[in-house]
Amino acid sequence: MNAKLDALSAHDVLKLNDLGGYTVPTRGLYPFQWNWDAAITALGWLAAGDEARAWREVERLLEGQWDNGMVPHIVFHGDAETYFPGPEVWGVKRSPATSAISQPPVLASVMKLLFEQGRDRRLAEEKLAATLPGVIRYHLWFYRDRDPEHTGRVCSYHPWESGMDNSPQWDGPLAGVPPVDAEYVRRDTGLVDPSERPHKYEYDRYIYLVKFFQQNAHDAEVLYRDCPYRVEDISLISILHRGTRDLIALCEEDAAGLGLVNTHGEALFSLKQSLARTEEGVQALWSDELGYFLSRDARANVLLEHVTTAGILPLFAGVASTAQAQRMGGLLEEWLAQAPFGVASTHPASTRFEPKRYWRGPSWLHINWMLAIGCEEYGMSREADRIKQASQKCIAAAGYYEYFNSVTGEGCGGRDFSWTAAMDLYWLNPLESFTASKAAAGVVEAP
Ligand code: DGY
Repeated sequence: MNAKLDALSAHDVLKLNDLGGYTVPTRGLYPFQWNWDAAITALGWLAAGDEARAWREVERLLEGQWDNGMVPHIVFHGDAETYFPGPEVWGVKRSPATSAISQPPVLASVMKLLFEQGRDRRLAEEKLAATLPGVIRYHLWFYRDRDPEHTGRVCSYHPWESGMDNSPQWDGPLAGVPPVDAEYVRRDTGLVDPSERPHKYEYDRYIYLVKFFQQNAHDAEVLYRDCPYRVEDISLISILHRGTRDLIALCEEDAAGLGLVNTHGEALFSLKQSLARTEEGVQALWSDELGYFLSRDARANVLLEHVTTAGILPLFAGVASTAQAQRMGGLLEEWLAQAPFGVASTHPASTRFEPKRYWRGPSWLHINWMLAIGCEEYGMSREADRIKQASQKCIAAAGYYEYFNSVTGEGCGGRDFSWTAAMDLYWLNPLESFTASKAAAGVVEAP
């Protein structure tokens, strides 16, 4: 079976979802611009040969950046009735309206790829110079507001901030959040099968937190002290760390001679200190007994012992030792053996594994891409290849769905989904012209 044969091409999916410089993840279910979706989708535009459009995606995301540096998880560029909670629920008074939390900042790592792999050098230099200051401020914001005690482990205030909304990791911390006391109407469950989405129990608490941020005027000190949900999320920490490394490398390599080190010297010094703190701080999240990294409930001071793909993302960050990486590589192999359309977001042997419910078991291809890069960089090419093959199998079985049942390969969630199409274009089945241009630019394939 090859679901791609009678479906839109990956490039057509991007074009379908293009609302004018920004790409919605999918029409209806997610009708605005999402932070990490936008970054991953920019890679799709690059691979489709539209470099200008790739950079435009970044610029439009940065239109939502707050004065304090935060790049929000949703930028509400237009109006739409099909999504809850919309701008009126978040209550953020700015234009364009945005949500009030962030999302895993894979943006900087993507910008490094756009810069290095873009064929139009003038465009790449001009766009990098224009967008880099905002992204540096974004990373400084994370370390300043989300790690005020300099632990080396930034925290998140909402499961949505992890992007892995209903991961079993958050069950414990979410139990400490009261339910919202107002009625609301969800839109997602009218658009996709409710058995593939989070439960009402979780939504009641998600919306409580949205209201809590508003009631506390988004004050960084108050939120750090009082937010009932404060989690050190190993995936967020890892993606931020990799992004910061990539930002610094972009400035230091400064292939274009843009004077980036001089212009951003002080910020780079601070970011390097943050990198060093995380390299040390993240080791507090390693479980030698279990052989992977854990997230931590910072309010309850409890490590969250669930085997999810989050715990393997330190490979992408490059913060695991060789011995730690090898243990995680072994774990990944048996993980894939148990759910062939993997990597299942929650380990199939977990009692909380549900193969088609959002982040409780389905596989997500942008996470697979990051895991494969991590494996490759630790010399685990066999694991990287297996992850790539499992990802290709998902698309062949179902097409460009948001995520995939990790046992059967059935497509789940939204269809004609931008980041899945982007991963196909960029990583899984790149067009010959793109592969050739990468080779000409001397780019060594990671995954
Ligand atoms: C949703 O609405 O499902 C998103 O994951 C929140 O960003």
